Amino acid sequence: MLLDQPSSFAHFLLDQAIRPGDVVIDATVGHGDDTLFLAEKVADYGHVYGFDIQKEALATCQKRLTTANLSQQVSLINQGHERIITALPADLKVQAAIFSLGSLSSETSQDVTLPNTTISAYHQVLSRLNRGGLLLFIIDNHFFKSEEEIHYLVADLTRLNPERYAVRHFQGVNQDVGQLLTVIKK
Ligand SMILES: C[S@@+](CC[C@H](N)C(=O)[O-])C[C@H]1O[C@@H](n2cnc3c(N)ncnc32)[C@H](O)[C@@H]1O
Repeated sequence: MLLDQPSSFAHFLLDQAIRPGDVVIDATVGHGDDTLFLAEKVADYGHVYGFDIQKEALATCQKRLTTANLSQQVSLINQGHERIITALPADLKVQAAIFSLGSLSSETSQDVTLPNTTISAYHQVLSRLNRGGLLLFIIDNHFFKSEEEIHYLVADLTRLNPERYAVRHFQGVNQDVGQLLTVIKK
């Protein structure tokens, strides 16, 4: 259901923004739910650049891509998203990007996303986003309890130039279903 989880809503929005042949980014690949979705959307003449600091997670994602016959349109990169710009081909523009914040395993784990690196990374992505492109943050409450990261991220998003970017924040009101922040470049 569209409103059950922030990721369903995020995929709905990405579905509107992405066309076959587009270039997109998954900034937090994990086991690859978003990567597989993006790979299907861009088709074999588009491309997904996926980043994660965990080698094992990328290996799991790679297996899933191979099984689904989607690996040719995906580059999985084992480095922090705070170095996104240096990993992308020069002058490459992207149509969409997704950050799924938190951790794969537990809120205290080493793999948890951090405010400084998330903020640095998303600014790098914005510098490459197409006009009309979409950048999303999913915050799933399951493995995410860092109010600090949300606080700093929202404070930073608030400072984006409203003439250039539309920023929206969706969250559950009567259910603990996580949050979705979207940034749309005008
Ligand atoms: C909530 S999980 C992502 C879940 C993923 N969407 C999936 O389908 O499994 C967050 C991921 O961010 C990764 N991560 C944490 N810090 C990172 C960083 N600086 N750069 C890239 N990935 C990072 C973690 O290793 C973890 O796999």
